Amino acid sequence: MVTVDIDGARGFITEDEFNQGKKRAEGAFEKVKKGSGPGNEWLGWRRILDQPNDAELDRIEQHALSVREDADIFIVCGIGGSYQGAKAIIEALKKPFDSRGPEILFAGHNMSGNYLKQLLSYLKQPKEDGSEKSVYLNVISKSGTTLETAIAFRTIRSWMHEQYGEETKNRITATTGPTGGVLNQIIDEEGYHKYEIPDDIGGRFSVLTPVGLFPVSVAGIDIQTLFYGAVAEYKTNESDPESLLNYAALRFKMHKKGYALDVIGSFEPELSGFCGWTQQLLGESEGKEGKGLFPATASYSTDLHSIGQMIQQGQRNMMETLLVIDKPFSDLTLVAAHNDVDQLDYLTGRSIHEINKSALEGTCQAHIEGGVPVVRVGLDKLNAQQMGRLIYFYELFTAVYVYMLEVNPFNQPGVENYKKAMYRLLGK
Ligand code: PA5
Repeated sequence: MVTVDIDGARGFITEDEFNQGKKRAEGAFEKVKKGSGPGNEWLGWRRILDQPNDAELDRIEQHALSVREDADIFIVCGIGGSYQGAKAIIEALKKPFDSRGPEILFAGHNMSGNYLKQLLSYLKQPKEDGSEKSVYLNVISKSGTTLETAIAFRTIRSWMHEQYGEETKNRITATTGPTGGVLNQIIDEEGYHKYEIPDDIGGRFSVLTPVGLFPVSVAGIDIQTLFYGAVAEYKTNESDPESLLNYAALRFKMHKKGYALDVIGSFEPELSGFCGWTQQLLGESEGKEGKGLFPATASYSTDLHSIGQMIQQGQRNMMETLLVIDKPFSDLTLVAAHNDVDQLDYLTGRSIHEINKSALEGTCQAHIEGGVPVVRVGLDKLNAQQMGRLIYFYELFTAVYVYMLEVNPFNQPGVENYKKAMYRLLGK
């Protein structure tokens, strides 16, 4: 279960303020449940957990297994909500340095010619035994028109057609909306395998659809357990949303008091990608009509040596959310050395996870004393089931909190502005 500890932030608002926030959070949750808020046609991320499609989960797993068996490289080509979720889960659950299964690469998430050129030359490099790499690609775009993704897809797919000819169509999978968009036309013409993103689920809420599930499954992660973890969290919160609503009440009041930033961080490097996913989920959902806390991200303890100073003593306008894992997947104790020149003997034999926990506790104390409200969102362990829970927890949290701001969480009208200006400059 996802736990929430707001003790480190409660001292920054009064009892009355908290209670007002709580009432508002309850009202916002009712809107989500009843589907009576703005953007209510985009609540499919709840529907899929209420009525799981086991046949689709099975199909995705079978397909992913066949790709996994043959691929040396699997490219996830997408941007924003079309790649962040898969990246977050893979980073969290695929063990670092584990070379089993295909190497997972990302493309279409930037507009760098250099990146694409280097990627192509990497694909062309033969394996150690001199044979060619077996490359598979999953292009993901709900709209089917996003420029970054389209450019990367055209580039890599052209190379794949040269390389594999007719066989390319078995190597490319396209995940897109049911109809419309040029990607659907390409699928029809080329006969690529297609997964549909339901109409009622927006990009940043789509990780538990084929958008996230197919790449995650190719990476060897158990998507049934992941998905049903999310189902369990859905059920928990339908009957007992207390902790989630406390967190929403608190964050809302911080926003009202003029706080401008929420630094979302973790002392577990595996959760860096997940912090990025929550950054997009919250940022694109709440940052409208002059409202919202800017969701910054931090990876601790690394970033204590870079932005730690700013958090401790910079402008007092930020709160912090720390994602905490109680039991690590694996751990190490500090070895004894032949002498104590490095002056670390006081730590000899101690668990590095425990040392990391002391860094977390010390950081919380220091940040709170320095005027930064700290909320902790915790998981017992980092595994597929718990990740599923955490994903749904943040999806629901985002919807509730953004409804409290009286904003539609599910659109992103501002994103169109740069596109219009860019297309004008490009002469489209
Ligand atoms: O949340 C969103 O809708 C966006 O972040 C999209 O995921 C992102 O812009 C990519 O869009 P598309 O999947 O249409 O290529």
